[in-house]
Amino acid sequence: MTIALVILAAGKGTRMNSDVPKVLHPIAQAPMLVHAMRAGAVLSPERTVIVTGHGSEAVAKVAQSEDETAQVAVQEEQLGTAHAVAQARAALDGFEGDVVVLYGDTPFLQPDTLERMIEARAKNDLVILGFEAADPARYGRLVMQGHTLERIVEFKDATEQERSITFCNSGLLACSAQTLFGLIDAVGNDNASGEYYLTDVVEIARGKGLTVTAVACGEEQTLGVNSRADLAAADAVFQARARAELLDLGVTLMAPETVYLAADTVIGRDSVIEPNVIFGPGVTVESGATIRAFSHLEGCHVSRGAIVGPYARLRPGAELAENARIGNFVEIKNAEIAEGAKVNHLSYIGDATVGAATNIGAGTITCNYDGVMKHQTTIGENVFIGSNTMLVAPVTLGDGAMTATGTVVTRDVEPDALAVARARQDNKLGYARKLFDMLKAKKARLSKGA
Ligand code: UD1
Ligand code: CA
Repeated sequence: MTIALVILAAGKGTRMNSDVPKVLHPIAQAPMLVHAMRAGAVLSPERTVIVTGHGSEAVAKVAQSEDETAQVAVQEEQLGTAHAVAQARAALDGFEGDVVVLYGDTPFLQPDTLERMIEARAKNDLVILGFEAADPARYGRLVMQGHTLERIVEFKDATEQERSITFCNSGLLACSAQTLFGLIDAVGNDNASGEYYLTDVVEIARGKGLTVTAVACGEEQTLGVNSRADLAAADAVFQARARAELLDLGVTLMAPETVYLAADTVIGRDSVIEPNVIFGPGVTVESGATIRAFSHLEGCHVSRGAIVGPYARLRPGAELAENARIGNFVEIKNAEIAEGAKVNHLSYIGDATVGAATNIGAGTITCNYDGVMKHQTTIGENVFIGSNTMLVAPVTLGDGAMTATGTVVTRDVEPDALAVARARQDNKLGYARKLFDMLKAKKARLSKGA
């Protein structure tokens, strides 16, 4: 069966108290909408339609950067979930498969849940995803009759007896496109909110003699985010799950609860992650690497056997080859550090390549920015950069070169050459004693005067 996803993402999310549309708030540093899209991607949808409203342009941009084929349908006024799905009609023109409706603010859906919905759909005209709620609160209630779902009643419209039902509506559904749009046409807004409820399609379908059932999933999968507190809780759920997965994959997390992961963090087997490490988006760590305590990594790649930190910062474009060493208070940005090279202390290496087995001394800085443009530093293999060297880019240092401590390198250095660029030392004999005496006498004079 070919599938189209319709992801509802028009809501303002008033309770987020934010200028940012709700679905763009991040969980594990990826927008909620992206989580929803990735969840839906397991169905290999032929089309994906995002229904946007508040912050439509920003939402569309994120959607299309995740999936360039995603279509956007704008819902100018938020008149309810059925009205929202109706906006996808034009984008699904000519589509004859099944529509799966997801919410952009429900980021934890598991692949097998969607697969079970599709299986159930093969035997039923309409399938709703439900869950047993620990606290059913304001969720819509699923009124079941055996395996048949008779109708969904919104909390606001429910009787006391209906409110005692704990099997609740997640909002997700699966139905053939043709049937779904037919049902939606029949939805009215005569209810407590004056909205067009998508949930009404159930009762309408039953009235037409169609088969409707509900598939159940764990409540944690349907967790919707409505407030900053929900967002924080959702992030915590994500982190706990992602850490557990890494442990299962054979990664050592010395203090798992202190490691903060991004939605796309990849870490290989037998790597060791020490406490208090933060992963931003786009990090891959190969097997057998060590990330020591208090390091911050984003958009970078760490190869097998490399050791990073403690207190290291790897910024986007940092590419560490096997057995590279990045030590404390070192920042690497857009730079390749070749096999076995070392940058161990207090350095900034940006817009650079560092050759194999090269050693970068403490306090070395690539001066890559002239205030207007960025420039490249190229360092060969087996180079020894003396401590406190300033490499004024663009500049190239050949294989086997060396720089003297404190050198400001402004010209290229030939292979095997030693670059020295600093004032020559001059020891003035007896001058220290003279200077001390002079200063002490001055201090005595001043304190007498006071
Ligand atoms: C909805 C369900 C309820 C279910 C709950 C689960 C209806 C009528 N009710 O209620 O049964 O238990 O979700 O969380 O469907 N949206 C639009 N356009 C609109 C309205 C909503 O795009 O005009 C989007 C929202 O951005 C959100 C989703 O649809 O992503 C759900 O809307 P929301 O208002 O949160 O529905 P609930 O009242 O929570
Ligand atoms: Ca909601």
